Amino acid sequence: MSSCTIFFLLCLVVTVSSASLTVDFYRFSCPPVEAIVRKSVHIAVSRNPGIAAGLIRMHFHDCFVRGCDASVLLESTPGNPSERVHPANNPSLRGFEVIDEAKSQIEAICPNTVSCADILAFAARDSSHKLGGISYAVPAGRRDGIVSNLSEVMQNLPSPFFSSEQIAQNFARKGMSVDEMVTLSGAHSIGVSHCSSFSKRLYTFNNTHAQDPSMDPEYAAFLKTKCPRPSDGANDPMVPLDGTPSRLDNRYYMELMNRRGLLSSDQALMRSAVTQKMVIKNAMDGATWGAKFAKAMAHMGSLDVLTGKQGEIRRHCSVVN
Ligand code: HEM
Ligand SMILES: *[C@@H]1O[C@H](CO)[C@@H](O)[C@H](O)[C@H]1NC(C)=O
Ligand SMILES: *[C@@H]1O[C@H](CO)[C@@H](O)[C@H](O)[C@H]1NC(C)=O
Repeated sequence: MSSCTIFFLLCLVVTVSSASLTVDFYRFSCPPVEAIVRKSVHIAVSRNPGIAAGLIRMHFHDCFVRGCDASVLLESTPGNPSERVHPANNPSLRGFEVIDEAKSQIEAICPNTVSCADILAFAARDSSHKLGGISYAVPAGRRDGIVSNLSEVMQNLPSPFFSSEQIAQNFARKGMSVDEMVTLSGAHSIGVSHCSSFSKRLYTFNNTHAQDPSMDPEYAAFLKTKCPRPSDGANDPMVPLDGTPSRLDNRYYMELMNRRGLLSSDQALMRSAVTQKMVIKNAMDGATWGAKFAKAMAHMGSLDVLTGKQGEIRRHCSVVN
């Protein structure tokens, strides 16, 4: 806390905005850390832009389950299936190797110093910058958790079959507003979804409608050429979440207005008056949406964090010390 007396005002601002995390937390203990993560992300994402989507989603799935403590990175141990093996994460979550690569470089120069949770938060920010030109400071100082429990995933992550009210409730439980929920849903402007996450909308919607009437029929016809009936089981192809899956922008909201949201939970944002208004605003003003996205990501990154002497600094991100 000595830096607080020197930079009293700065510290005050930081404290107000995010509990006990601080920007440039590693300035003395590991100055190159953010540059190392940035470079690892840059290399991986230049090769495969989808990895950026994976890292942003991984940060979300980390923060909503036990806070941003890198619990999502832990492998199962005998008798203790971890978050990683839950169907929301396995097999769809991607980008683990980018975190591992950055971590091993960081351990080589500043051992036992930088948490996996902070590396993931930096990587999600760098991914947003790479695909969307969206930048924001990431307050750091997170510690890594020592617990990861499969059954906590379903209790904390929203389902793609939720209504907008249910998703809003899910975010509210984390202290996040409806506007932040709608803003962060814009992350579905990048990356892909497996057909199984939405194919009910194409084939078995309900007793009177085989196909979800809230989906543009042309879009549904296109998706049917990509996705087999759910009963066809075995293979589960992937399709882009929006028309420009490598550009993080507000196009997602325009697609929702055109009834071209892929997941039921995406299109649901058009069904309630409150969220519909927010969708339209975001569709019309990409710059404001980008600024809100940056702020909401930083807020999400501060949820239920471990700090100080809590938890540990993991040596390897996939196992506790
Ligand atoms: C609002 C509730 C949300 C629901 C119900 C939801 C659900 C989903 C589902 C079902 C997928 C597709 C997984 C698959 O089948 O492969 C997905 C992908 C994705 N989600 Fe979400 N999500 C939500 C919010 C968020 C938030 C807040 C973020 C980040 C800030 C996010 C980022 C992503 C990204 C980037 C992808 C693409 C991943 C990739 O291409 O690897 N989602 N989401
Ligand atoms: C995981 O969480 C569930 C539900 O909260 C709990 O019943 C179970 O005991 C936990 N498992 C472990 C190994 O802690
Ligand atoms: C099926 O969904 C449509 C559109 O949401 C709705 O109007 C209809 O009442 C639903 N039918 C049943 C049987 O639930």
